[in-house]
Amino acid sequence: MDKPICNKSLEDNVLIGKNIIVGICGGIAAYKTPHLVRLLKKRGANVRVALTEGGARFVSELALATVSQEPVYRTMFPPANTAGTDYTRHISLGEWADALIIAPATANTLAKLSAGLCDDMLSAFFITLRPGKPVLIFPAMDGQMFLSPSVQRNMATLAAQGCTIISPESGELASGQCGLGRMPEPDAIVNSLEKALHYGGKSSPLYDKSVVITAGPTREKIDGVRFISNYSSGKMGFAIARDAAKRGARVTLITGPVNLETPFGVSRIDVESAAEMHEASRKFFTSCDLFIGAAAVSDYRPASPYEGKLKKNDRELQLTLVQNPDILAEFGMQKASGQLAIGFALETQTGLDKAREKLATKNLDLIAFNFFDRLTSGFEVDTNILTLIERDGVTTELPQLTKDAAAARLLDAIEQLCPKTGINP
Ligand code: C5P
Repeated sequence: MDKPICNKSLEDNVLIGKNIIVGICGGIAAYKTPHLVRLLKKRGANVRVALTEGGARFVSELALATVSQEPVYRTMFPPANTAGTDYTRHISLGEWADALIIAPATANTLAKLSAGLCDDMLSAFFITLRPGKPVLIFPAMDGQMFLSPSVQRNMATLAAQGCTIISPESGELASGQCGLGRMPEPDAIVNSLEKALHYGGKSSPLYDKSVVITAGPTREKIDGVRFISNYSSGKMGFAIARDAAKRGARVTLITGPVNLETPFGVSRIDVESAAEMHEASRKFFTSCDLFIGAAAVSDYRPASPYEGKLKKNDRELQLTLVQNPDILAEFGMQKASGQLAIGFALETQTGLDKAREKLATKNLDLIAFNFFDRLTSGFEVDTNILTLIERDGVTTELPQLTKDAAAARLLDAIEQLCPKTGINP
């Protein structure tokens, strides 16, 4: 199995983490669908396949299960008395999906869907899909069939329901004739889906935005083998990066030393000291749309670290510390209109006022105050209790949440602050 590709362009991002159902009906073009599933997976989507009985005549269930890494859904009714069978999966999976692609769609399935029939998993998913989720239908059949009044009427009904019908292409057909009826190639289908997810009016304002996130601790060298650091695990910054990438942002994660996997689709820059984090961050100051300082940057560093290992002796050892640059404040002070600066304020006692002060002095658009107790919130733990304070004073207290959920709530709030652009709804 290929490794997922990382985000490089606008198109590569929107599918990251999206849940896609691919419905496959009984047309010869079904033989191309394992490739379609593979492309979606490579773009970072989670894919489930619904295969009709006709579809199964043209493409192997095993091939589809292998490329999707999931069981293939076919019949509505699992064998009787099957222990542990999920009898409501036609509902839960319909709710799970962010989009449904039907490729190829046969005349028979178009008729069933337009009439609301529901006798296999594909038609069930179609009915249980949540309102507003894109449905892309790729009819593929003989040209005469496609142009027949009944097929045209059924497609018109589905289009009126909000489905996107993508006309087949002209070319060589299975019948040996040339004409209208060919299913578009898998990469064209993926492109259509990306556009539907983006331009369908439901995409995030963070889509295609350049988001730079600092995360983790920094290490400030005392000598060749020792350093000053803190307990930051990087979990919060990584959770934000993961969620921002899912929303279609182009994410750069500048991280101090942590023991975490790079979130899918995120480009990662590893640094050690505050000076290195500063240098890496500055490269993005003018180009990024959003700068989120989630790193626990050491405020001070030893003035002159020793080259080798400091030797023990009987005398007292004095370390002179000098201040590190404040990366976020520097960005905040020089950001242009349209750029947003977001910070964190970790305080060991109720420090809302201190957080408000930091919001002002660093010229931030939003600051997330979190209370440090190492049990429910702050460094190392998997949960956080954030209070979001916006520039205009609007303050939102969040409950104790997993860092993933807290990241999502933070990004929801940031989305509200995003300037509207031509491409965003
Ligand atoms: O350390 P302080 O409480 O001032 O940190 C508040 C915010 O500023 C955090 O978002 C942190 O990532 C950022 N910061 C920074 N560079 C520093 C210190 C803090 O970017 N040297």
